[in-house]
Amino acid sequence: MNTYPVERLREFATRVFVSCEVPKEDASTAADVLVTADVWGIDSHGVARLSAYFEMLKRGLINPRPQIKTVRDHPATAVVDADNGLGLVVGPRANEIAIEKADPRFAELLNQMYEELEGAMPGFRTFKRKLGLLISSPSARVFYHFDVPGQALWQVRGRKRIWIYPPTKPFLPATEVENVVRSLAMEDLSYEPWYDEYAEVYDMEPGDMLHWALNGPHRVSNLDSVCVSLTTEHWTPEIRRSYAMHYGNGILRNVANWSPRSSSLDGPAFWAKAGLTAAWRKSGMQKKQGYKRVLSYKVDPDAPLGVVPLDDKDRLTVNL
Ligand SMILES: [Fe+2]
Repeated sequence: MNTYPVERLREFATRVFVSCEVPKEDASTAADVLVTADVWGIDSHGVARLSAYFEMLKRGLINPRPQIKTVRDHPATAVVDADNGLGLVVGPRANEIAIEKADPRFAELLNQMYEELEGAMPGFRTFKRKLGLLISSPSARVFYHFDVPGQALWQVRGRKRIWIYPPTKPFLPATEVENVVRSLAMEDLSYEPWYDEYAEVYDMEPGDMLHWALNGPHRVSNLDSVCVSLTTEHWTPEIRRSYAMHYGNGILRNVANWSPRSSSLDGPAFWAKAGLTAAWRKSGMQKKQGYKRVLSYKVDPDAPLGVVPLDDKDRLTVNL
């Protein structure tokens, strides 16, 4: 296999785009996006795609000199008309617009929240923190699912009920976690009404915060009021080990056809799985699989649940 220095690849890709009449500055942005994907190990979206872009530009399927315009502009969103330009150029431009719109106070708030928690709990150290703002209607529900990173829900306005279930079989089969961490499935789980007998139920009021066991399945119903909530997610060294353990167990179960029994986060078995996980991800085997999601419903405000099923012919398969 031939390898090439990053700089050379960047320069080569830039020249290819320029040869297709892409302006120099845009060509360099596009080349940078492709090369960065390779550097990050996402080869599927890297320089391997250059020939496809070359073909599309040569056939006139992509506009090399688009007039990129913001056609609708609101405080939190913008609609950008890309004029059929290269996504590699329009994407970064749209990202810049989105970043300019983000209120820096949300990042400050997130850090302040976690600094207070870490201050109160010696040894609790978080990274890859994320904050989500949820504004939901009085009848909104979140169906039974689990999340991979650590989670907390912070109620700001309105009331909602949350059911939290044990992160163990049968509420959360180990195979489900393994498939989600390996990107073979989404986080939704099959639910049985009798699970509720084992749930902890909380009615959240403004000012309440709830945090639950890692991977604990949960579902949520708003209690007849518009709700404003914040969700936070975070990783800790232990969560990262749990991820590696599930990933390793998944490979052993599916590829080596062996039923792993250990969920230990230390010791030789764990480190062997961590090594297996790293080698597997590096090998690129994971990318050859991937999960297909079928969109089988559409939003309908008049339907009792707010959604109606799609006919077979209208279903859409999306690669994730
Ligand atoms: Fe969740």
